[in-house]
Amino acid sequence: MSGAFTKSTARNIFYGGSVFFLLMLIALTFDTMGTLPERDHRENITEQVAMGKKVWEDNNCIGCHTLMGEGAYFAPELANVYDRFGKSKEAIMGFIMSRPAEGVPGRRSMPQFNLSQEELEAVAEFLKWVSEIDDENWPPNIQG
Ligand code: HEC
Repeated sequence: MSGAFTKSTARNIFYGGSVFFLLMLIALTFDTMGTLPERDHRENITEQVAMGKKVWEDNNCIGCHTLMGEGAYFAPELANVYDRFGKSKEAIMGFIMSRPAEGVPGRRSMPQFNLSQEELEAVAEFLKWVSEIDDENWPPNIQG
């Protein structure tokens, strides 16, 4: 059957493939846009969660940490820190508050941010909200 692969076969594969994958892209885009509102529980974004996100951004937490794998790999993943800390916002706030001003001698550690009580509560609430996003249980283990 040599010679069966003609120019028009190649063209049909090219156009057919392009159309197929374009349709696939459109279908998956609609699927994502349809399911996102359920998965990110956006109805629970309160003023406090929004403020927590601002604290998160203003202090560049992502410069050291990851959220669901996105960010820097210097410090632990925080999308599940709320679960890791026994579903306790107080534990998260306590950790952030208790960072030594001079750092931990001998190693690079998390700085002291001197956040106000309001900012602490907001960032903990933000991390709680993030932990409740339906992210197919990512990261797959509690350590992050
Ligand atoms: C300069 C890098 C750096 C920045 C910026 C940073 N962290 Fe951290 N963070 C760390 C390191 C390193 C650890 C691991 C514990 C340690 O060594 O102090 C940590 C640990 C944590 C933990 C405990 C995680 C665990 O599983 O033990 C929480 C919660 C946390 N950081 C929250 C924050 C928040 C919120 C911000 C922004 C306000 C922030 N971090 C900014 C470096 C950073």
